[in-house]
Amino acid sequence: MSIKESRLVNKIWKAQHLVLYRLGLRDYQRAHKPIIRKCLGEVFKTASHPTVIETGCIRDANEGTESTLTIASTLNNRGKFYTFEICKEHIRICQSVCRDYNEFINYVEGDAIANLREMVGANVLDTIHLALFDSVNDGDHIWKEFETCERVFKTNSIVVIDDVLWGDKGRVIKPYLESSPEWKTKIYNVEYGILVAQKI
Ligand SMILES: C[S@@+](CC[C@H](N)C(=O)[O-])C[C@H]1O[C@@H](n2cnc3c(N)ncnc32)[C@H](O)[C@@H]1O
Repeated sequence: MSIKESRLVNKIWKAQHLVLYRLGLRDYQRAHKPIIRKCLGEVFKTASHPTVIETGCIRDANEGTESTLTIASTLNNRGKFYTFEICKEHIRICQSVCRDYNEFINYVEGDAIANLREMVGANVLDTIHLALFDSVNDGDHIWKEFETCERVFKTNSIVVIDDVLWGDKGRVIKPYLESSPEWKTKIYNVEYGILVAQKI
């Protein structure tokens, strides 16, 4: 499929999805929620109390992606969940959206790479079962987040990154994961491309 056709498929999906959502036939506004839930289901097959991280928490109550809420409500006190966020105001917004689940969320304020480096280095994070890298549309930054955590991804660990087809986010990590014999990858042609990689 050409890039042009691929973009068209993505747009049609988005339009169809929005219509179904507005008609009340789907309870989720964006594709992130079902994909994250599916990944968590996969993680639960091998880890009853997984460690989950995301970089970049919910920043807008109406954006519809809702990763922090989706993860916290699905885990619901099973395992550990850390969200790494640089902006105090976004943490405040996220805490308000996640009000029923904040007791299950560890908000780590500051630059994700610096904090991940510290926590992985100190073995506070010694295994990550699921990681959503969603902080900035900057392929080098996303790569560094992944690289900082790489040694604590174990067999069956899952990594999720959105906007990998046409944004900068996937520029370094997408070819790396796709060509690595240690990772099995799948790209959903929704929301500008969501990459899911599972460690073999
Ligand atoms: C796309 S939003 C995250 C959306 C969220 N995951 C969701 O599903 O609704 C990106 C977030 O990453 C944060 N961010 C940007 N640079 C960061 C960094 N270096 N470290 C941690 N968070 C960062 C932004 O402040 C913003 O809140």
